[in-house]
Formats: sequence, structure tokens, C-alpha cells
Amino acid sequence: MSTEPKKNKPWKGRFQSNTEPMVEEFTASVTFDRTLAPYDILGSKAHATMLKECKIINGQECKDILAGLESIEEEINNGQFAWNISLEDVHMNIENRLVEIIGETGKKLHTARSRNDQVATDLRLYARTQVDELITILANLIHKIVALAEKEAFSIMPGFTHLQVAQPVTMGHHLLAWAEMILRDIERLRDCRKRINVLPLGSGALAGTTFKIDRKITAKLLEFEHVSENSMDAVSDRDFVIEFISSLTLTMIHFSRMCEELIIWSSQQFNFIEISDEYCTGSSMMPQKKNPDVPELIRGKSGRLLGSLVAIMTIMKSQPLCYNKDNQEDKEPLFDAVVTTKQSAQILSNLIPRIEIKRQNLLDATKDGFILATDIADHLVRKGTSFRDAHELTGRIVRKAIKESKKLEEFTLKEFQDISTVFDESIYQVLSLQQAVNIRNHIGGTAPSEVISACTRIKKRLKKLNEKK
Ligand code: ARG
Repeated sequence: MSTEPKKNKPWKGRFQSNTEPMVEEFTASVTFDRTLAPYDILGSKAHATMLKECKIINGQECKDILAGLESIEEEINNGQFAWNISLEDVHMNIENRLVEIIGETGKKLHTARSRNDQVATDLRLYARTQVDELITILANLIHKIVALAEKEAFSIMPGFTHLQVAQPVTMGHHLLAWAEMILRDIERLRDCRKRINVLPLGSGALAGTTFKIDRKITAKLLEFEHVSENSMDAVSDRDFVIEFISSLTLTMIHFSRMCEELIIWSSQQFNFIEISDEYCTGSSMMPQKKNPDVPELIRGKSGRLLGSLVAIMTIMKSQPLCYNKDNQEDKEPLFDAVVTTKQSAQILSNLIPRIEIKRQNLLDATKDGFILATDIADHLVRKGTSFRDAHELTGRIVRKAIKESKKLEEFTLKEFQDISTVFDESIYQVLSLQQAVNIRNHIGGTAPSEVISACTRIKKRLKKLNEKK
């Protein structure tokens, strides 16, 4: 990036002396807001077209501006554009280049516009595009999870509460819990998109414009659903950035929880899964190590999102209306949140099909921890005992089993009957893992049959979400 001082700052008129180089560097945003260049050009093209429609510039001027903007876009795409820090930001860099290419007409583009409504427009265009891309990426991730869930619909494993063995579940059911979290994330993004999709352009610096513009033309060209209703709010509002980052933070928190499970499951103590070599790394010292670095990094990266969320909320807090330079600080947290979430989602999508599920180990892990105790209590209730009494009786059986180092299914009928005469032969049917998962076959239950239908329902919901877009 060039730092060669250029004297032609658009606001130079009022100034007698040049900006200190340090101040120039400190106040510039072009090093990062270059990301907005395609949206800035898109917005400028729509603005120029609207100015022509409203006879504020003539047809030839509009043509020249559009052609100039197109060649700038090419220069940027080819890496030939000479960004200059003394031109502060993406907007002034592009405008300055436009004047260099097409001459005096270029100076008319900024009619009826301020950088304040311009940057808000660029940022909304960027956010809208990213929301759409993220929805596609997240939907793809859900498809990968569902595919694995279908494969593992019948794999029985322990379900945990407090990370202690609780009740048997199927791996498919566990995986679909992840899918539900991400489905909600998609819904949140779609909701957030509605409030992003409002056009601020036309608000000017804060009070609107003296020109007879038609904002609806610009909105239509840029596919904004509405035009903003209050110019002062429109130039200063960054709620949509907060909402977007907040939604992505929640997505990363979900990823972090999923990754935590992958990490635990791949440890020697659990040994439920094996993550394929391409997605792990080794240790420089311990030759035997194969570490789950990818899930660990995603878990760690969730911290960046939380940091970005705190940053953007702090930036907005205490800002008086309307635009303040504080707002320039909105971009880096947003860009980082978007890039981090996209990368994490993509790498998770690639990793999930590369997980080997060790079904026998899952099953073996259900053998300890009296995993069917609730089912015994439920059985007693079906035989007429109240749930509280059944809970206590079953608790006594468990205590006896611990004392005698026995499994529940090793008890004789007599031993069961010593605790309660309600017990009969049918208790041994209850002491079946298969039966325990099969019987929970209501909507939302862990039964394999239910997992299979839940997979179908999720695919349908995804399709519907896609259609609504
Ligand atoms: N670079 C600025 C930003 O990111 C653009 C808007 C500048 N407006 C102004 N009045 N200084 O927010």
C-alpha cells in the first residue's frame, strides 16, 4: 500500500496544512475497508443511475461514471489498483481513481451523497451477501451431520448429564441435536437479514439531501426491500452489525460445544471416535500423539467472535447521533467474525464425514453406570407404584448393586423381589438397551425409527428455508 502523500483529499478545501503522517495512518481505514470495494462500486453504480433517472446528471455523464467504475473494478480484481493510505478509505480511493480515469465528470458522483450514507450502504450490502453465503455453508454442514446421523441411527451409546452416564441414546439422535442448533442459527440469520436489507443511501451526512432524488430507484437497483425512514438513524445505526455478529457468535458457541464433544470422544478415555489423519496433527516431542487440533482451534476461535461482539457493542454504546468516527471500528470485528465462522463451518463440514464411529466402544460404554435405572423406575410405575416410590426403590437396587459389584441384569428375580414384591419376570425385558431406545419413539425421542424420520424432517425444513430465500 502506498503512503505517498497526495494533496487531493476531497475535504481539503477547509484545511490550510496537511495531516500529520501519523494521524493519516491512524485515521485511515483503507487497509481493511478495501474488503468493501465491490459493494462500494455496486452502490455507486446504482447511485449514478438514480442521479441520471432524476436528471441530476445527464445520460453521458452516467455512462462515463459507470464505465469508469467498471474499469476500477477490473483494476482491483487484477491487483493493479494502487491503494493509497492518504486517501483514507475505500470510498475516497475509488472516487479519486474515478476522477483520474474519466476526469471532471467523476467529481459529480458524490452529488446527493455523503460517505456516511455510503459506508452504511456498503456495509449492508456486504452483510447481506455474507448472510446468504453463510446460510448456504451452514445448510451444507447440516446435510453432512444428517448423513452421519442416518448412518448411526441404530448405534447405541450412553447419553450424559453432568458428563455422567445417564440414559442410553443413539448416536444419530445425539448428532441431530447438533443439527437443531445450526438450524436455529440459520433461522436467526434469515431474521437478521430482514433488518440488514434496508437502504440508507439518500440520508446524506445526517439530514437528507437538497436534491430531488428518488430513493426507491436506488433501493430497487440494489435489491433492498425498504428505504430507511429516518436519515439520522440510518447513518448511525449499526444494530444490524451487532445482530449479525451476535448470531455468528452463537453459531461459534455451538461449534465450540460440538468440537468439545469431538475432543472428548477422541480421547483414549472415551475412545468413541477416530478423526482421520488429515484432520489431526502430531506432537514434535511425543511420537505417539495424534491431536484433535482442528476441533480445538474451532473451540478456541469462538473466543474471537465473543471478542468482536463485545467490541461492536462497546463501540455503539454512548455514541450520540449521528455518525461518529467510532463507527469506522465496526468493520474489523465484523469481517473477522464472518471469515472465522465461514472457515470453521467449512472445515467442520469436511471433517464430519471423516469421523470413524467406534460402535462397539459406544456400546461397551453403556455397560457401567446403571444406565437403565430410570427404565426400571418407569417399569414399577407401570405396575402401579408411584414414581417417587419407584425412584426410591430403584435407588436401593442401585445401592445394592454398587455394594456387591454387580450389574443390574445379574440380579436374580428373588433379589429384585427382596426390594419390592412388585417385581416379576418382566423386569428382564426392561433391562434391554435396545428396548430402552426403541420405546422412546415419540417426536423428539432417541429411538432409531424416530431418528430416521427426524432426518427426513430436517431435510424438508432445510429445503423450505432454501425456497423462502
Ligand atoms: N471510513 C469511514 C468509516 O468507515 C467512512 C465514513 C467517513 N465519514 C466521515 N464523516 N468521516 O466509517
